[in-house]
Amino acid sequence: MLVKSCSLFNNPMFYIRRFDELDSTNDYAKANGADLMDKDVIWAKHQRKGRGRFDRTWESGEDLTFSILFQKTSISHAILAPLALVYALSSLQVETRIKWPNDILYQNKKCAGILIERMYEGNHHRFDVVGIGVNIANSMKAELVDKAINLPNQQDAEDVLFRILRMYTILLRMDKDSVMREYRRYSMLLGKEIEISGKRMLVSDISELGELIVSDGTEEVYLRSEEISLEQIYKDR
Ligand code: BTN
Repeated sequence: MLVKSCSLFNNPMFYIRRFDELDSTNDYAKANGADLMDKDVIWAKHQRKGRGRFDRTWESGEDLTFSILFQKTSISHAILAPLALVYALSSLQVETRIKWPNDILYQNKKCAGILIERMYEGNHHRFDVVGIGVNIANSMKAELVDKAINLPNQQDAEDVLFRILRMYTILLRMDKDSVMREYRRYSMLLGKEIEISGKRMLVSDISELGELIVSDGTEEVYLRSEEISLEQIYKDR
């Protein structure tokens, strides 16, 4: 394991622990949380068993895969992480949007995914693990070609990682209202109509916890990504 200290504007500081291979950087961070510090970054050049949401497989080849361990932050990572990615990619002239809850789209295809896991001890929140996978030059399986895409121009994984951490640093220093405003700018779903259980609903906002706020004109409902099928939301887009 190579430990790199990456001092970004001195504070906060991310410590990057780089591995040639791990099963999953999220699993490593969760299992070793007691020995890790706030904002430690676990970066694996290759993951053997990368996981996505709902225990889907994250296929690894030429990609950037890392996880950050965070102690408590005042803004939810469901808001911060997608925004850090969008900003970082924009600094490379790659313009992307946020597909709620955790996908980043380039040219309407997924170029990056985020897996956020919250660890508890009893009822006590211990830490969050924010896992990020970015397609650099992955070979896509035939069934993924229509949905997934690599970043253009064969980006350098380390450079992309540093840019994401730099943007995270900036976002962590911003106030909540500004961060929420920025998130809304890049959200694909805001202002769109979606169908939930046969009802047309308007996506009116995103909550500070990252819930989708929808309204049918009479009542507002807060949707958590774990509670609704995303196919339901995205079937007609
Ligand atoms: C998704 O698209 O459902 C989320 C994908 C998250 C993949 C990343 S790769 C680094 C980290 N380690 C994992 O096992 N998963 C996340």
